[in-house]
Amino acid sequence: MFIDPFGRTIDYLRISLTDRCNLRCVYCMPQEGLRRQPRSEQLTVNEIVRVVETAAQGGVKRVRLTGGEPLVHPHIVEIVQRISSIQNIEEVSLTTNAMLLERFAQPLADAGLTRINISLDTLDVDKFKRITRGGEIDRVWQGISAAEHAHLSPLKLNTVIVRGLNTDELPALARLTMEHAWHIRFLEIMPIGNSGDWGNGFPAPQNRYVSVQEMRDQLSRFDLQPESTPIGNGPARTFRIPNALGTVGFISPLGEHFCQNCNRLRLTADGRLRSCLVIANEISLRDAVRNGKPLEEYFTQAIAQKPKQHDMMAAIPADPQRGMSQIGG
Ligand code: 5AD
Ligand code: SF4
Repeated sequence: MFIDPFGRTIDYLRISLTDRCNLRCVYCMPQEGLRRQPRSEQLTVNEIVRVVETAAQGGVKRVRLTGGEPLVHPHIVEIVQRISSIQNIEEVSLTTNAMLLERFAQPLADAGLTRINISLDTLDVDKFKRITRGGEIDRVWQGISAAEHAHLSPLKLNTVIVRGLNTDELPALARLTMEHAWHIRFLEIMPIGNSGDWGNGFPAPQNRYVSVQEMRDQLSRFDLQPESTPIGNGPARTFRIPNALGTVGFISPLGEHFCQNCNRLRLTADGRLRSCLVIANEISLRDAVRNGKPLEEYFTQAIAQKPKQHDMMAAIPADPQRGMSQIGG
């Protein structure tokens, strides 16, 4: 069993399969994109599978595939199929922008994917295009129906709330859960990724942050009821509008409770284990996996480094090299 120095059981691995993405969300990347890691520096499918086998032997039960955008990985279906066949792995899920989901939902479900999280920050066609710098919201809706058709459930939506951009849409977004069994989670924006200027018509960096408390105030009319048994054991505080089919959750990466039950470890596309989203410590196991060496000790080391909690504000200057698309959210 992987247990960290603070007694937390580590049974969840998030894998950033690629730093590539077919969108350029303003809070994540600059318009021109980020420097791409050479493919030769990224783990191959066989290497990823070996890493997950070691993780599973150590007690990891759930794997989430992220990016960048995991669906642009040329072998995404094979990766899902092989990871879901590994002994002890009970759940393989994926976080996607849904641009390619209509095509991939059924093949992924057939390959063993259990569920999916979709990033959706607005309901407005033009705003979606502006936030994602070119994305088409219709493809999200088509992707969602393909996911439902393929029984990839429960379906979660991730919404990053930014003042002056989509705060006014909080009620409409929450209302989606009344008629759909979708689980929307509102995220506070984190000061990592693209935290500089986003260009014309976007709020300035110091004006963007909206706290979970303020989001909840904006939704006070809905009489949100705390859920007694939230789905999964992630960092969201979950509520339900009375009689709604889905739920409304809030994620406060800057808040302290985020770290208390942290059960996760991250693997970057270039083969580094990272014990915390925010703290820059990483341990590369790429050479070891390429040389056929045992990998357990790398996990032990990474878990030993897991911090009790992060101080997101203080951590920013410590890790200027990697954006969210390279860590995997
Ligand atoms: N703050 C909060 N959430 C972010 N995401 C990406 N960058 C940020 C940020 N700076 C979200 C994406 C995706 C998830 C993996 O992380 O929208 O839903
Ligand atoms: Fe791509 Fe996700 Fe970053 Fe948007 S937030 S650019 S979809 S990796």
